[in-house]
Amino acid sequence: MKKNILLCVTGGIAVYKAVALTSKLSQSDFNVKIILTKSAMEFVTPLTFQVMSRNDVYYDTFDEKDSKKIAHIDLADWADLIVIAPATANAIGKLANGIADDMVSTTLLAATAPVWIAPAMNVHMYDHPAVKNNIATLYSYGYRFIEPSEGFLACGYVGKGRLEEPEKIVELIRKKFQHDKGSLSGKHVLITAGPTREHVDPVRFFTNHSTGKMGYAIAQTAVELGAKVTLISGPVALKEPEGAEVISIETAEEMKQAVMEHFSSADIVIKSAAVADYRPAMRYDEKMKKSEGPMSLDFERTEDILKLLGQQKKHQILVGFAAETDHVEYNAKKKLQSKNADIIVANNIKQEGAGFSGDTNIVTLYFKNGEKKELPLLSKHQVAEKLFVEIGLMNTPSKRIDTE
Ligand code: CTP
Repeated sequence: MKKNILLCVTGGIAVYKAVALTSKLSQSDFNVKIILTKSAMEFVTPLTFQVMSRNDVYYDTFDEKDSKKIAHIDLADWADLIVIAPATANAIGKLANGIADDMVSTTLLAATAPVWIAPAMNVHMYDHPAVKNNIATLYSYGYRFIEPSEGFLACGYVGKGRLEEPEKIVELIRKKFQHDKGSLSGKHVLITAGPTREHVDPVRFFTNHSTGKMGYAIAQTAVELGAKVTLISGPVALKEPEGAEVISIETAEEMKQAVMEHFSSADIVIKSAAVADYRPAMRYDEKMKKSEGPMSLDFERTEDILKLLGQQKKHQILVGFAAETDHVEYNAKKKLQSKNADIIVANNIKQEGAGFSGDTNIVTLYFKNGEKKELPLLSKHQVAEKLFVEIGLMNTPSKRIDTE
């Protein structure tokens, strides 16, 4: 899947290099969208970037092209990576101080994707203590810098301040995503998906609305990220994710058996299946016949697989789901604790775009350290990608990805 790069271009003479950068990124199979500041447009017109990126170019916070979206939020959510190139001393200063007075700065404050900053300015400006302080502040916030190179500067000076060459920036971006691609290599990811069926007799069973789409998207993404994937799936009408070992089960008990068989070798366990909490206490061998009057059935509890895993886990990262219709946060936090999970992915299935059968989801991630992260409306594949980014960050001290 193509990665989305949001290029923020601020006003310095190096804007001409941003045109080359846009062209090279598009040629390298990235989706590129551009935001320009007013000063950047003093050097190059939006049309140039539009042609090079084959996408809309944004420069006015109040020019909303699509009435259903708020452009700066939508762009911030769209990006897998944001690059500010060239980044002027002014742009760096504004970001370091939380100023949001144009399309670039407003979008940057709304962004959760990694942001790389490629400064370009006069050597003395780059050396100014205020600029140095701003860079240090941004670094401490998790922003990463593509350092300017040394050489002839447009102002006549020779020194540090030239925007890094577009080829080099593209190479760094490519490397970052290659690294992401292999980020689960050597890891065993165990995923459960779909509904379970709890049989009453040979023709009838109890089940739920789960389609397995979320779990299958997670399995596909884990394969793409280089993991060994075991997918334990209830009955669904989906194509098996290529590269995953798929184990088909029907009942909660069969799911439990299959999960326990693979648990000890798993590094990450993601329980997206909608498991029945109850099964008919009796499973009849022959078809039940109707009789006059009402009928009732006795149910017994199935085992809570996630809870069992929570009790037995050693090194594994355990992710559970909570599909709720009300009190989402309360229920998610309760499940996080009662099941000893590391993350609960919660959604309100009544919300449009977040239900069982669609291709999208709106989830909030609850972490065992008390943090929570709300994600916007995303495709289930994007939700899966974001989930793995968060899992990857769980064991790292910094919450941002470095350029190295
Ligand atoms: N789960 C499980 N085994 C069960 C029931 C649920 O492993 N017998 C897992 C699900 O796969 C999911 C999480 O527990 O990851 C939460 O499931 P959910 O059905 O939302 O909640 P329950 O624990 O069943 O609680 P309740 O029905 O009270 O909401």
